[in-house]
Amino acid sequence: MTKLTKILLTRHFPDAVIERARRDYDMTLNPDDAAWQGDALITNAEGMDGILLSSSNKFTVDVIAGLPDSVKILATFSVGYEHLDLEAARSRGILVTNTPDVLTESTADTAMMLLLNAARRVRESLEMVTTGNWVGWTPTQLLGIQPGGRRLAILGMGRIGRAVAHRARAFGMEIHYHNRSRLSPDLELGAIYHATPEDLFRHADFLSINCKMTPETTRLINSDTLDLFPENPVIVNTARGGIVDDDALIAALRSGRIAAVGLDVFEGEPKLNPGYMGLTNAFLTPHIGSATVDTRNAMGFRALDNLDAYFRGEKPGDRLV
Ligand code: DGY
Repeated sequence: MTKLTKILLTRHFPDAVIERARRDYDMTLNPDDAAWQGDALITNAEGMDGILLSSSNKFTVDVIAGLPDSVKILATFSVGYEHLDLEAARSRGILVTNTPDVLTESTADTAMMLLLNAARRVRESLEMVTTGNWVGWTPTQLLGIQPGGRRLAILGMGRIGRAVAHRARAFGMEIHYHNRSRLSPDLELGAIYHATPEDLFRHADFLSINCKMTPETTRLINSDTLDLFPENPVIVNTARGGIVDDDALIAALRSGRIAAVGLDVFEGEPKLNPGYMGLTNAFLTPHIGSATVDTRNAMGFRALDNLDAYFRGEKPGDRLV
């Protein structure tokens, strides 16, 4: 890589990331942080050697087909890569990288934060206090569900799922999980394996969704599978919104079949299914799983490490294609 190598930053990444990119490259920055799509991505890629992008930029078959020949690498500032058509990139000989590992801890923290907020009815508590409607302590006010001694079912026991398990053990929870393949005992650490998601759901007093979104996991939480849960479960999702059928979940929250949810990701975000809005048993956050200064810097540095390796003529560590 040389200062002559041209890279495009499609979003306003953290300042430390922009500074490093400016130091090492001939860098072009999206001036107003708009979430470029389609033609805007193609036009702004003109003359670029590489692109540092985010999950808010959809690199579809058409966008990838329209990229100038100069673009050799797409480095996404995310662990997820559903926004990138890997097959289209492969067929054009464009290399793609992501940023695994560095957001494991902050995402697991977010899952526990959602779990506790949903189980302990924090949305209702905040409303009661901030609207001046708190009449004082009563023995039966805002009774929630205690995680300790209950079963936490983890759907997807990769790095993030295991980091959630680590935290939940400290709360006295019994860990159950489903994963495409069973973990070795040193990674399982006593967690109970279920060969199918359906069997996992039957044991889920709490469910944490930590799997990738794939054709198999899309809408895996739906009206049929919600029926399998024990009474009063709490569901949290820090993975991808599309794993949940929103209409089914909203109906189950309304009827009380599901006690509460904590959701950080939504299908079609930033637009949410309006059914969630009035539900006091839905604790909702705006995709903040990785939103700490440390993690976002680390994601940016990891994406730049991948670009640096490629432009030095080496194989980037996080190569997807
Ligand atoms: C990720 O890294 O995949 C986060 O969800 C942000 O897109």
